[in-house]
Amino acid sequence: MKSEDRNLHTVFDELLNRKDKEKLLSQRGIVIWLTGLSGSGKTTIANHLERRLNSEGIITKLLDGDNIRTGVGNNLGFSTEDRAENIRRIAEVAKLFMNTGIVTICSFISPTKEIRAKARAIIGTADFHEVFINTPLEICEKRDVKGLYQKARAGEITNFTGIGAPYENPDNDYIEIVTNNKTIDDSVTSLYQQIIKKIKWS
Ligand code: ADX
Repeated sequence: MKSEDRNLHTVFDELLNRKDKEKLLSQRGIVIWLTGLSGSGKTTIANHLERRLNSEGIITKLLDGDNIRTGVGNNLGFSTEDRAENIRRIAEVAKLFMNTGIVTICSFISPTKEIRAKARAIIGTADFHEVFINTPLEICEKRDVKGLYQKARAGEITNFTGIGAPYENPDNDYIEIVTNNKTIDDSVTSLYQQIIKKIKWS
């Protein structure tokens, strides 16, 4: 064995693996992937879920448009290709956190089945938990929290999801959360109850 090979061998031998870190944290690192229209409630639910998990001693990382599109994805727009690249980068970043044992909550429109299938493939099916925040377009448009639907209807934003660009509902292997006629607490509790058993270390 050449001396540099021996050095490499030693370095990899000493690397801590995911299980070591999960054990240290007493939790399983998984990815919770929230998909849904703009204004569907993804970020609100993600924030509340994160707080609830934290209050129980579970360490989390929330990735959403605010911290991704201003940094890792700041050269990307909303064309089909750019959205795919946005989601690919997010999935790779999420995987790094997950492999450190951290519960990683991703909150992105991720509008097509193809895009979400790519994220699933990067992260791995066993660890990828797709959550559909199922709020009908009419309700999102009525809420119009950021005023973007109005701009999209006026033609000031092209390619806006649900107006000028498609959103495809998931059709298998997902957790469905409804927000219409529910309190935030109802929706978050429903998600929490369906996900907590995947996180608990036993
Ligand atoms: S994704 O399609 O690539 O998954 P992402 O979740 O990162 O989208 O960003 C969505 C947010 O970007 C929306 O909530 C909205 O505030 C903003 N946005 C700006 N332009 C668009 C657009 N054309 N379509 C959708 N969202 C847009």
